[in-house]
Amino acid sequence: MTVLTRLPFSRESGAIPIIGFGTSPMTGGLSSDTLLAALKAGYRHIDTARKYGTESAVGEALRAAGIPRADIFLTTKVSHENLRAADLARSVEESLAALKVDYVDLLLIHWPNPEIALSECMPALAKAKRQGLARHIGVANFNIALLDQALALCPEPLAALQAEYHPFLDQSKLLAAARARGLVFIAYCPLGRGRLFGDPVLNEIAAARGRSVAQIALRWLMQQNVAAIPFSSQPQRIADNFNVFDFALDDDEMTRIAALKRPNGRVANPKGRVPGGWD
Ligand SMILES: NC(=O)c1ccc[n+]([C@@H]2O[C@H](COP(=O)([O-])OP(=O)(O)OC[C@H]3O[C@@H](n4cnc5c(N)ncnc54)[C@H](OP(=O)(O)O)[C@@H]3O)[C@@H](O)[C@H]2O)c1
Repeated sequence: MTVLTRLPFSRESGAIPIIGFGTSPMTGGLSSDTLLAALKAGYRHIDTARKYGTESAVGEALRAAGIPRADIFLTTKVSHENLRAADLARSVEESLAALKVDYVDLLLIHWPNPEIALSECMPALAKAKRQGLARHIGVANFNIALLDQALALCPEPLAALQAEYHPFLDQSKLLAAARARGLVFIAYCPLGRGRLFGDPVLNEIAAARGRSVAQIALRWLMQQNVAAIPFSSQPQRIADNFNVFDFALDDDEMTRIAALKRPNGRVANPKGRVPGGWD
């Protein structure tokens, strides 16, 4: 089976590499060696955020690696507390300064904020695109109702939705909604922050295919045309997570993995952040 290495955006030209590198370490900082290992392994899609405090490290690694800007797909995000128009504009300026780039490829609202109207932040996000500071714009952690409001209030097309997704979390409704609205779905925490690794079904499939559990989980997302942004601090794992383009899961394996979903499968769930809840 052929899996796309880049997912095209449906409403505008451009495409996003299907495997990206997350840059939000759960503990400690992010070393430039880690980023250089990712770039050396072949990652060209890097996911950062103003909130992570890793934009400067990302910018330094990109310059040190000497990879042409046009070959990199760079995502950053505006934090939920900075969604008023002036704050959003300032946050984007700070991101570009920290990254030492003129534009990002994708600019996302990091989380919705019930106290700041989408009628204020979506036009502000669109303005950053119109100013050439972001090639594409989108949202993260929006439920379907918020997504529809965001689409209605945004004067520019939205290209992507970023949300948690891995075999333990049923995202079938959100994924179908994103697809129906022409948005690329980007899975964060695609390895369930490590919770997947002890699962017997994933281990059985991994052993049968001579692959790692991480590779099986990432391939399962890719075969749904979902982009994924795994993080690891370990060079061998960083390379392993990118080495997912030369095998395929069959229908039975895809179904068995989908059946691992569970009610308490979510790993990133700050309380009360999403007005109206996740669904
Ligand atoms: N938009 C949002 O609100 C949001 C929220 C959360 C995350 N994100 C983005 O998504 C990215 C990924 O999420 P995440 O980092 O939270 O979780 P993740 O990628 O699901 O899991 C990362 C964890 O898995 C371990 N790991 C990675 N590859 C491995 C392998 N091959 N074998 C064994 N262990 C492995 C890593 O440990 P080691 O370092 O020891 O390898 C790390 O502890 C973030 O870095 C961030 O860019 C976005």
